[in-house]
Amino acid sequence: MNRTLVIVKPDAVERGLVGEIVGRLERKGLRFVAATFGTLDRSVAALHYAEHEGRPYYDGLLDFITRGPVLVAVVEGPTDAWRVVRLMMGATNPLDAAPGTIRGDLATVMAENLIHGSDSAESARREIDIFFPHLGS
Ligand code: PPS
Repeated sequence: MNRTLVIVKPDAVERGLVGEIVGRLERKGLRFVAATFGTLDRSVAALHYAEHEGRPYYDGLLDFITRGPVLVAVVEGPTDAWRVVRLMMGATNPLDAAPGTIRGDLATVMAENLIHGSDSAESARREIDIFFPHLGS
């Protein structure tokens, strides 16, 4: 899978970090092939995070991801784009994220971790289908 889904989350938009995050991905060599900007409907967010339903953080995660506009994008790389993005994001908890990663350099709080990236080729296909069904998979 050479494409993956990225969401630049509300905290990143609020902090004016969209350009920084997009720039890092582009400088790495990933190409933006589709993007949309706006506040997610809760139903779309629920579909996207369906596998986390029932987890203690689930309701808070939906509140967070729908609290303001996000940039949802598909990025493409030569191979395993999802893996490249995940590496650049850093660990889920910014406290554990290595320096040099987006979360390691720019975030400090667990819930406010700036960016989502698909966690496998299968997730990338499923998530791209939710937001950009016309792209096919
Ligand atoms: S898991 O259990 O490994 O699948 O979970 P993980 O991949 O670490 O996280 C799934 C998404 O839920 C978010 N998350 C949280 N948000 C708020 N508070 C807490 N405690 C919390 N734990 C996990 C996490 O940021 C992941 O969102 P995405 O958008 O996929 O990064």
